[in-house]
Parts: sequence; structure tokens; C-alpha cells
Amino acid sequence: MFTAIDVIRAKRDGHRLRDDQIDWVVDAYTRGVVADEQMSALAMAVYLNGMDAAETARWTAAMVNSGEVLSLAVDRPTVDKHSTGGVGDKITLPLAPLVAACGAAVPQLSGRGLGHTGGTLDKLESIPGWRAQLTVDEVQQQLREVGAVICAATTGLAPADRKLYALRDVTATVESIPLIASSIMSKKLAEGASALVLDVKFGSGAFMKTLADARRLADALVSIGHAHGVRTSALLTDMSVPLGRAVGNAVEVAESVEVLQGGGPADVIDLTLALAREMLSLAGLSHVDPAPVLASGEAFEVWSRMITAQGGDSAAPLPRPTHTHTVVAPTDGILTSLDAYSIGVAAWRLGAGRARKEDPVDPAAGILCHTKPGTPVRAGDPILELHTTNPTTIPAALTTLDGSFTIGSAAPTPRPLIADTIRP
Ligand code: URA
Repeated sequence: MFTAIDVIRAKRDGHRLRDDQIDWVVDAYTRGVVADEQMSALAMAVYLNGMDAAETARWTAAMVNSGEVLSLAVDRPTVDKHSTGGVGDKITLPLAPLVAACGAAVPQLSGRGLGHTGGTLDKLESIPGWRAQLTVDEVQQQLREVGAVICAATTGLAPADRKLYALRDVTATVESIPLIASSIMSKKLAEGASALVLDVKFGSGAFMKTLADARRLADALVSIGHAHGVRTSALLTDMSVPLGRAVGNAVEVAESVEVLQGGGPADVIDLTLALAREMLSLAGLSHVDPAPVLASGEAFEVWSRMITAQGGDSAAPLPRPTHTHTVVAPTDGILTSLDAYSIGVAAWRLGAGRARKEDPVDPAAGILCHTKPGTPVRAGDPILELHTTNPTTIPAALTTLDGSFTIGSAAPTPRPLIADTIRP
């Protein structure tokens, strides 16, 4: 016989939760038997006293078991990728078709953006006709025929997480490593891929502001994956500067297409290739080098088929902004910093993101970063180009961008994009 009060008291007093307590409390909360106020107290006790690796793995399993688990019957190894979110992070767009072109199957169930980090589905929905909602049968068929699917996660996956995440959001209990790690992994494990690469970001534009915190989160994520028999590794990547030049929806799709056609910014190409190599290695395809596959246009071919399969017209023009505003360099010098967080918030204010999950996004809104740190500039050179279809958003975006870049006389020390790789 379990009671919520006993479980809360155990964690409040710093004890480990037993497996049967975890199974019960997660299930009872999902069914409405444990009340929101009781789960809030337990989440706060976990926030304050933590959970060890075994408790976190069990908590994750209980959340996976709260809903359906996809079983992906395809004849290629399946491998998925998850990013903890960043500014200009469009990597999934070139990565999924690239890894599929290299021989793996990539089921990429994604979310929409909330706050200053963009959502993969919002970006893809700027392609005329493209549809995010697929049935499980459609996902299977597309995986077999194209090799890559990027679509919305069905509401049946990890319902306990959906309920708990909404509760954490309003009870100041989001920022707990065991709760974040179990939340992310419950959704990924329910997708049924046999391998998973995590892009855990740190820096101003990321959820985790420091490398040390990102490492703790990556360790927890990799350990949960391993405990569930899923080959999992994590790259720790810098998010203090926006990735690439484009931040927004249609602008990020356009930049992804450039990369798939053999061009695009070096940081986007480098991170796409690094994640592709890690995914291929976990999928048992380490002998395939993704660089020539990207350069040859084979990945672009898969991209076009992937977009067409979901109703999109990959040849149609992308939405264009009705208003633009350029921020220029006030002096000569070298761009020494470009703050990801301010740029993410400004793009969001221009309409690229949403404040509440039911808000629409402006597909044409965003920011183009004409210059990246380390580049010499002359007074009057364009640094940032703001895009929107609602000109009343521009003043607030400009206020946010105050102090978002600095110009100095010496080049900044280059920061490695990939700080480390965590493997079990
Ligand atoms: N993303 C998630 O899916 N869950 C969290 O708890 C935090 C970020």
C-alpha cells in the first residue's frame, strides 16, 4: 500500500526512492490519483535532494511506461538525435537526411519552440504544404521509403512527462538535472530508436549556461540511455554565439538547404558532420564518411524526398519578410562577441517564436547575422538584419539587441564548437 505522503516524506528527508515507490507515484500521478499539489511537493523534494543514477533511470522508465512505445520495424539501423536547444540550431534539418543518405533510418520526433530557442517543426512549417502530423503507419512507411522523418511527437508518448513538465514549469522545479534528464529521455526512449546522440549545449543561448552543468546533464542523459539498452552518447557544444548566420524559421530552412547543396556556414557544416559521424558510429556504420555524401548532393536528394513525402513543396519560394531593418557597426574594428541569448530573444520578439504554446509563429521572422566574431568590420557595415511581417515588433527587438555585440581591436580567442564527447 503506497501513499503520496510517504513518498514525498522519503524524498524530503533525503532518502532514495524505492523502485516500487517510483513506479507507483508516476503511474498514480498520470491517472490523477496523486494530486498536482502532491506531485509539486515531490518535484520540489527531488529538486532539493536529487535522485541518483538508478532512481533517475527508474523514474524515466516509469514515464516511458505511462504511454505508448513505438516499435519501428525497418530494415536499417535506427538512430535519433536530440538537441537541448539553441539559437540558430537548425542542425536536425541537414542532419536527418544526411544520416539517412549514409544508410541509417532517422526517426526524428520533434517539438515546437517556446521562448528564445526555436522549434524544428516551426522551421519546417515555413515550407508551403509541409505537414508535421503523421500517423505511426506513415512514420514507418516514410522511414522504409526515404530513411528520414521529422515530425511531431504523438500525444500518446510519455504522457506522464507532459503532465509533469507543465507542473514543473509553474512550480520553479524545471532546473533539476534528474528531472530534466528523465523528461528528455522518456520521450526519446518512447520513440523506439536503438541509438541516440545528444547535442547538449552550453553558453548564453542554451538551457545550461556553463560547461560544468552541461556535462552533468550529458552524464545523466547518457547513463539513462545506457541503463535502457540504447546506445547513447553526447556532444557538449558551445552556444554562446548563434549557430550559422540565420536565426528564425524560413531563414533557417534556407541556410539548411545551402548546407545540403554543398555551401553554408562552416560551423553548421562542422557540427552536422560531427553529429552525423557519432550517429553513424552508434548505428554500426562508422565506415561511412558523411562528408562526401553531403558534398555530392545525395543528402539533398533525401531532403527533397523527405519534404515531398510530408506534402511540402521543396521548390516553392519560402515566405519573405515585409519589413527589414539593418543594424550596422558603429566603428571600425573586429567583431569580438555576438550574444546568442540576445539574438534568440530578439528573433522571438520579431515573431519567430511564441510566448504561449498556442500562439502562431511568423514564418518570415528572424535575424541574419552578417558578421560572426573574429571578422574585421568597418563603421557602417551590416552586422544584423532583422526580418518580420509585423513592423511594430522592431523597436522591442532593437532594445533587446542593445549590447548584443562588441567591436574591439584584437581578435577574440577562438572557442572550440565541440568541447567534449561523452560516451558511456
Ligand atoms: N526539455 C525537456 O524535454 N524537458 C525538460 O525538463 C527540459 C527541457
